[in-house]
Amino acid sequence: MPTREELIPYIMLLAKPKPGDVLYDLGCGDGRVAIEATLRGASAVCIELNKELVQKAKERARKTGVLEKITFINDDFFKVNLEDATIVYMYLLTSVNRLLKPKLERELRLGARVITLDFEIPGWRPLHITRVSLGYRDATLYYYVKGISNLHEIR
Ligand SMILES: C[S@@+](CC[C@H](N)C(=O)[O-])C[C@H]1O[C@@H](n2cnc3c(N)ncnc32)[C@H](O)[C@@H]1O
Repeated sequence: MPTREELIPYIMLLAKPKPGDVLYDLGCGDGRVAIEATLRGASAVCIELNKELVQKAKERARKTGVLEKITFINDDFFKVNLEDATIVYMYLLTSVNRLLKPKLERELRLGARVITLDFEIPGWRPLHITRVSLGYRDATLYYYVKGISNLHEIR
Protein backbone atom coordinates (compact mmCIF):
# COMPACT_ATOMS: atom_id res chain seq x y z
CA MET A 1 0.00 0.00 0.00
CA PRO A 2 1.77 3.19 -1.14
CA THR A 3 1.52 6.61 0.46
CA ARG A 4 -1.44 8.36 -1.15
CA GLU A 5 -0.31 11.07 -3.56
CA GLU A 6 -2.45 13.70 -1.79
CA LEU A 7 -0.30 13.29 1.33
CA ILE A 8 3.03 13.93 -0.32
CA PRO A 9 2.85 17.77 -0.11
CA TYR A 10 2.21 17.46 3.65
CA ILE A 11 5.15 15.08 4.03
CA MET A 12 7.39 17.51 2.12
CA LEU A 13 6.21 20.40 4.29
CA LEU A 14 7.23 18.49 7.40
CA ALA A 15 10.46 16.98 6.02
CA LYS A 16 11.65 20.14 4.22
CA PRO A 17 14.13 18.29 1.99
CA LYS A 18 16.80 20.55 0.52
CA PRO A 19 20.26 20.23 -1.03
CA GLY A 20 22.53 18.44 1.44
CA ASP A 21 19.70 16.37 2.92
CA VAL A 22 19.56 12.62 2.51
CA LEU A 23 16.12 11.08 2.82
CA TYR A 24 15.91 7.38 3.60
CA ASP A 25 12.58 5.72 2.85
CA LEU A 26 12.55 2.45 4.83
CA GLY A 27 10.46 0.18 2.62
CA CYS A 28 10.25 2.64 -0.25
CA GLY A 29 7.73 0.80 -2.43
CA ASP A 30 7.55 2.50 -5.84
CA GLY A 31 9.84 5.30 -4.59
CA ARG A 32 7.29 8.13 -4.76
CA VAL A 33 8.38 9.85 -1.50
CA ALA A 34 12.10 9.51 -2.25
CA ILE A 35 11.56 10.89 -5.77
CA GLU A 36 9.64 13.88 -4.48
CA ALA A 37 12.45 14.67 -2.01
CA THR A 38 15.01 14.66 -4.84
CA LEU A 39 12.87 17.09 -6.83
CA ARG A 40 13.44 19.49 -3.93
CA GLY A 41 17.21 19.12 -4.06
CA ALA A 42 17.86 16.32 -1.58
CA SER A 43 19.37 12.96 -2.40
CA ALA A 44 17.62 9.78 -1.31
CA VAL A 45 18.15 6.17 -0.36
CA CYS A 46 15.34 3.83 -1.30
CA ILE A 47 15.44 0.55 0.62
CA GLU A 48 12.96 -2.10 -0.44
CA LEU A 49 12.78 -5.86 0.08
CA ASN A 50 10.55 -6.51 -2.93
CA LYS A 51 12.63 -6.77 -6.09
CA GLU A 52 9.77 -5.83 -8.45
CA LEU A 53 9.05 -2.70 -6.44
CA VAL A 54 12.71 -1.71 -6.64
CA GLN A 55 12.50 -2.03 -10.44
CA LYS A 56 9.31 0.01 -10.43
CA ALA A 57 10.95 2.69 -8.27
CA LYS A 58 13.98 2.84 -10.57
CA GLU A 59 11.75 3.19 -13.61
CA ARG A 60 9.75 5.93 -11.96
CA ALA A 61 12.94 7.77 -10.95
CA ARG A 62 14.33 7.40 -14.49
CA LYS A 63 11.13 8.84 -16.01
CA THR A 64 11.24 11.73 -13.53
CA GLY A 65 14.89 12.39 -14.38
CA VAL A 66 16.23 11.83 -10.85
CA LEU A 67 17.68 8.33 -11.16
CA GLU A 68 21.21 9.44 -10.31
CA LYS A 69 20.03 11.19 -7.13
CA ILE A 70 18.69 7.99 -5.55
CA THR A 71 20.56 4.97 -4.22
CA PHE A 72 18.41 1.85 -4.50
CA ILE A 73 19.01 -0.99 -2.06
CA ASN A 74 17.11 -4.23 -2.62
CA ASP A 75 17.49 -5.56 0.93
CA ASP A 76 16.10 -5.66 4.44
CA PHE A 77 16.25 -2.19 6.00
CA PHE A 78 17.35 -3.74 9.31
CA LYS A 79 20.64 -4.55 7.57
CA VAL A 80 21.30 -1.04 6.23
CA ASN A 81 23.20 1.54 8.27
CA LEU A 82 21.25 4.78 8.69
CA GLU A 83 23.99 7.14 9.89
CA ASP A 84 23.93 9.25 6.68
CA ALA A 85 20.22 9.98 6.91
CA THR A 86 19.07 13.49 7.73
CA ILE A 87 15.42 12.53 7.06
CA VAL A 88 13.78 9.13 7.51
CA TYR A 89 10.34 8.30 6.15
CA MET A 90 8.46 5.19 7.22
CA TYR A 91 5.04 3.91 6.26
CA LEU A 92 5.17 0.62 8.11
CA LEU A 93 3.39 -0.76 11.16
CA THR A 94 3.66 0.17 14.85
CA SER A 95 5.11 -3.29 15.55
CA VAL A 96 7.85 -2.74 12.94
CA ASN A 97 8.51 0.81 14.17
CA ARG A 98 8.97 -0.65 17.68
CA LEU A 99 11.59 -3.07 16.36
CA LEU A 100 13.31 -0.28 14.40
CA LYS A 101 13.45 2.08 17.37
CA PRO A 102 16.74 0.81 18.91
CA LYS A 103 18.36 1.01 15.47
CA LEU A 104 17.12 4.60 15.00
CA GLU A 105 18.44 5.49 18.47
CA ARG A 106 21.82 3.90 17.76
CA GLU A 107 22.46 5.03 14.21
CA LEU A 108 20.64 8.29 13.48
CA ARG A 109 22.48 11.54 13.98
CA LEU A 110 21.15 14.17 16.40
CA GLY A 111 18.63 16.38 14.62
CA ALA A 112 17.60 13.79 12.03
CA ARG A 113 13.91 14.20 11.22
CA VAL A 114 11.76 11.08 11.23
CA ILE A 115 8.30 11.09 9.68
CA THR A 116 5.94 8.18 9.97
CA LEU A 117 2.55 7.78 8.35
CA ASP A 118 -0.37 6.41 10.35
CA PHE A 119 1.79 4.41 12.76
CA GLU A 120 3.72 5.83 15.72
CA ILE A 121 7.13 4.99 17.06
CA PRO A 122 6.10 3.66 20.47
CA GLY A 123 7.77 5.59 23.29
CA TRP A 124 9.01 8.46 21.12
CA ARG A 125 7.41 11.87 21.51
CA PRO A 126 6.29 13.49 18.24
CA LEU A 127 6.99 17.23 17.90
CA HIS A 128 3.96 17.50 15.63
CA ILE A 129 1.04 15.30 14.78
CA THR A 130 -0.63 16.31 11.52
CA ARG A 131 -4.06 14.94 10.75
CA VAL A 132 -5.10 15.14 7.13
CA SER A 133 -8.67 14.59 6.10
CA LEU A 134 -8.77 12.85 2.74
CA GLY A 135 -12.55 12.66 2.61
CA TYR A 136 -12.79 8.90 2.40
CA ARG A 137 -10.19 8.29 5.10
CA ASP A 138 -8.11 10.36 7.49
CA ALA A 139 -4.34 10.07 7.64
CA THR A 140 -1.97 10.93 10.47
CA LEU A 141 1.62 12.06 10.07
CA TYR A 142 3.99 11.90 13.04
CA TYR A 143 7.04 14.16 13.03
CA TYR A 144 9.96 13.25 15.28
CA VAL A 145 13.42 14.70 15.77
CA LYS A 146 16.21 12.43 16.96
CA GLY A 147 17.61 13.77 20.22
CA ILE A 148 14.36 15.45 21.25
CA SER A 149 11.67 12.87 20.59
CA ASN A 150 13.65 10.10 22.22
CA LEU A 151 15.09 12.14 25.15
CA HIS A 152 13.09 10.37 27.81
CA GLU A 153 14.15 7.02 26.30
CA ILE A 154 17.83 7.76 26.95
CA ARG A 155 19.01 6.49 30.32
C1 LIG B 1 3.13 0.35 3.26
S1 LIG B 1 4.41 0.15 2.04
C2 LIG B 1 5.02 1.80 1.90
C3 LIG B 1 5.76 2.06 0.61
C4 LIG B 1 6.38 3.46 0.50
N1 LIG B 1 7.22 3.77 1.64
C5 LIG B 1 5.32 4.50 0.39
O1 LIG B 1 5.05 5.13 1.43
O2 LIG B 1 4.72 4.69 -0.68
C6 LIG B 1 5.68 -0.68 3.00
C7 LIG B 1 6.83 -1.22 2.15
O3 LIG B 1 7.86 -1.69 3.02
C8 LIG B 1 8.47 -2.83 2.44
N2 LIG B 1 9.14 -3.56 3.53
C9 LIG B 1 8.56 -4.15 4.59
N3 LIG B 1 9.48 -4.68 5.42
C10 LIG B 1 10.69 -4.41 4.85
C11 LIG B 1 12.04 -4.68 5.25
N4 LIG B 1 12.31 -5.34 6.38
N5 LIG B 1 13.04 -4.22 4.47
C12 LIG B 1 12.77 -3.53 3.31
N6 LIG B 1 11.51 -3.26 2.88
C13 LIG B 1 10.48 -3.68 3.64
C14 LIG B 1 7.31 -3.56 1.78
O4 LIG B 1 7.77 -4.44 0.76
C15 LIG B 1 6.47 -2.40 1.25
O5 LIG B 1 6.80 -2.08 -0.07
